Amino acid sequence: MKKVALITGGSRGIGLGIARRLVLKEFSLAINGVRDPGQVEEIMAELRSHGPEVNYYQGNIGHSEDRQHIVSRVKAEMGRIDILVNNAGIAPKERKDILETTEESFDYVMGVNLRGTFFLTQLVANLMVGQKQENAENFNCIINVSSISATIASVNRGEYCISKAGTGMVTALFAARLGEFDIPVYEIRPGIIKTDMTAGVKEKYDKLLENDLCVQARWGEPDDVGKVAASLADGNFPYSTVPPGLQPQPSFQGTGWAVRHQGSRQALAYFHRFA
Ligand code: NAI
Repeated sequence: MKKVALITGGSRGIGLGIARRLVLKEFSLAINGVRDPGQVEEIMAELRSHGPEVNYYQGNIGHSEDRQHIVSRVKAEMGRIDILVNNAGIAPKERKDILETTEESFDYVMGVNLRGTFFLTQLVANLMVGQKQENAENFNCIINVSSISATIASVNRGEYCISKAGTGMVTALFAARLGEFDIPVYEIRPGIIKTDMTAGVKEKYDKLLENDLCVQARWGEPDDVGKVAASLADGNFPYSTVPPGLQPQPSFQGTGWAVRHQGSRQALAYFHRFA
């Protein structure tokens, strides 16, 4: 039976890095994004050239009707969703100090990164529960792409940090809730990855990376995250738990979530302090 992965924001950056790795593992792909289909044709053709079915579903995950539409179309056209990768995310339009940022910017970031992720997960989780009841042997999982910003405070984009910290709780909540159905929920917390999102701060991070910001003195690539996601989607972490420093709850036993840090020494120090 074919395995279908829905990847939000899967036509560029980290999402595309994940799509490229999943298609190599013969997943059929439902790629979501906000761009017009015409703008992503070339990328879809590249992904299709590996063999599996690849369809594009345009829609804004921050909008309720779009989420419903995306999921019902994937179900109708591809039959199922085995893997959900909640990758789509946005930064504030303008980085502003938390003493100055606006409610409008807060709502804009939160509406996609947190509200969109939560309610899309809810929709797909219900679908997966039905699938597991039909065939308990089939591996389904949910992978949330949050960020190192879930734990590291950047005072010039507080709304982004809060949205990513919230995504950590979305992960924990759905991991706990879906444990009885044997549907693991994972979280990847990338560090500093070279994409369009970080293009505007490239020079700043080039310098910081030279000066020992990260464990490895280089930018992360979308493919680095793609490899982690592909390994999770492949079912290689069926009994993963919370990382040191975050208290495991009894309900996490046998399900749980994996957090991968790729980046800052600060983050590692943070976790060691609480370990
Ligand atoms: P990007 O801006 O290059 O790509 C984001 C993708 O999401 C685009 O394809 C865009 O069309 C799509 N998207 C944006 N809003 C959407 C919406 N409302 N509905 C559907 N699709 C939407 O960003 P990048 O860097 O690839 O980021 C992907 C994820 O990784 C985001 O959640 C981001 O917060 C997270 N992240 C990125 C890091 C980085 O250094 N680039 C570091 C840590 C996390």
